[in-house]
Amino acid sequence: MTSALSLLEIEKSFGPVAVLRGVSLEVKRGEVHALLGQNGAGKSTLMRILLGLERADRGAIVLADGPYAPRGPADARERGVVMVPQERTLCPALDVVENIVLGIEPSASGLLRRKEAHAIASRALGLVAGDGRIPLAAPVRALSVADQQLVEIARALAQGGLGTDAEGVRAKVLVLDEPTASLGKSDADRLFLRVRALADAGLAIVLVTHFLSDVREHADGYTVLRDGKVCGSGDAKTTAPEKIVHAMLGRELDTERGDADVEGAHGYRGAHAADVKEGEPLLELRAVAGKTKPRDASFVLRRGEILGIAGLVGSGRTELLRAILGLDPTSSGKVVLTAPRGIGLLSEDRGGEGLMLGRSVADNIELSARGPFMVRPARVDAEGARWISELSIRASGPAQRTGDLSGGNQQKVQIARLLREDYDVLLVDEPTRGIDVASKAQVLDLLRTLARRGKGVVLVSSQLEELVATCDRIAVLRRGVLSPSRPVSEWTEQKLLLEAAS
Ligand SMILES: Nc1ncnc2c1ncn2[C@@H]1O[C@H](COP(=O)(O)OP(=O)(O)OP(=O)(O)O)[C@@H](O)[C@H]1O
Ligand SMILES: [Mg+2]
Repeated sequence: MTSALSLLEIEKSFGPVAVLRGVSLEVKRGEVHALLGQNGAGKSTLMRILLGLERADRGAIVLADGPYAPRGPADARERGVVMVPQERTLCPALDVVENIVLGIEPSASGLLRRKEAHAIASRALGLVAGDGRIPLAAPVRALSVADQQLVEIARALAQGGLGTDAEGVRAKVLVLDEPTASLGKSDADRLFLRVRALADAGLAIVLVTHFLSDVREHADGYTVLRDGKVCGSGDAKTTAPEKIVHAMLGRELDTERGDADVEGAHGYRGAHAADVKEGEPLLELRAVAGKTKPRDASFVLRRGEILGIAGLVGSGRTELLRAILGLDPTSSGKVVLTAPRGIGLLSEDRGGEGLMLGRSVADNIELSARGPFMVRPARVDAEGARWISELSIRASGPAQRTGDLSGGNQQKVQIARLLREDYDVLLVDEPTRGIDVASKAQVLDLLRTLARRGKGVVLVSSQLEELVATCDRIAVLRRGVLSPSRPVSEWTEQKLLLEAAS
């Protein structure tokens, strides 16, 4: 097979910080190539260079038809290189057609040629979603996260140009930066069927991911970046996951790393063991129903426990959390909050939302509840520094601009902000999305520590193994109906999946 894409000795620094230090990578036509590495390793930066969104300091890129040095995404598109970036790009209020043709609208004397736009969108969507299951006229916000992801891919392909039906797409290289971060297993599998079909049609696909199972099951080759250098590559199907993790971390993943060393971590300002009444109820839901979802949800959350909520994308998990918080009106039932220190939410729909990207990491961690002008910088910086070390946030320091952090590290800033508040009840929706394997364990350990110190945690996750490993009890949400919770000892991943999908 011929190389569709060769990156040669790419170097890139931001100011004094060398982010890519001579990275070479080759992807063949028809190949799905996984790009792995810890948060901040340089994956997205490398892909942004490929798309012309950043300029490399040194190095070269060669495509099948010759040397390539894009000055911007338009150049990249011209040569058939397209990307679905890590941050979502769809406009929620626009419909599917409008989103897909955004920026390439077919127009005549300034007027959108609706029919033509419709044809482009339906062809592009046909390539990634098949059937016509996704309604073209629906506003994107009405779609599930999984379907939105498919629209993102359709959009990238359409932007790269669609040939005649027989030719399919004009794009040659498709980059997917963490496409499955917010999907459950079955949605992810469905997405990968489409990705494989695109590869079979001749595209070279770069798949940035934190899921080792994605690599083994869906990629052909892989490359691992660590600190801006390639430190492992090979065959995705036959390489042991342990070997890949070792390359990512430069050491073994410490699975024995229990709560003990997190316990030693200083300074949660949360309740101390002394004022915690073991098992005291903090939050109770009695047959809560919203306008459409949830339809029926009851549970009691007590001090010291983590209640897991499993459910497929679209089962109403986010709606349930919104109903608890009173963000959406309930139509019947009752939410009884007895927690003296209130309730905090880490929302699923983060994508930088709520972060002040232009301000420092420390400001973002500290400023949530307080006004921006009431704080003393020294203390803010100390608090920022503490969380940077607590969650291994990869930043040059508390003063770094948040917008310059990698995607995963921005998420950690949001987690830090929630955890440092002294809420009694934490609702955490997909807390490990976009977070690398080593940090995942850290985040989950932190939740367990908080529970042990008397907090109550409701953990929503598409990652079933994460629920089984972290929760005390798990309830399954199915089409808006929450099953009674059962102790984690009665659950396995398979049982959860069966129950959620039945
Ligand atoms: N514009 C910028 N200015 C300064 N530093 C930057 C800028 N963009 C990225 N960086 C730094 O480059 C490093 C690599 O970031 P990158 O986004 O490529 O990581 P990543 O591998 O995609 O991580 P993640 O898994 O979290 O998405 C990070 O340390 C980040 O802070
Ligand atoms: Mg990234």
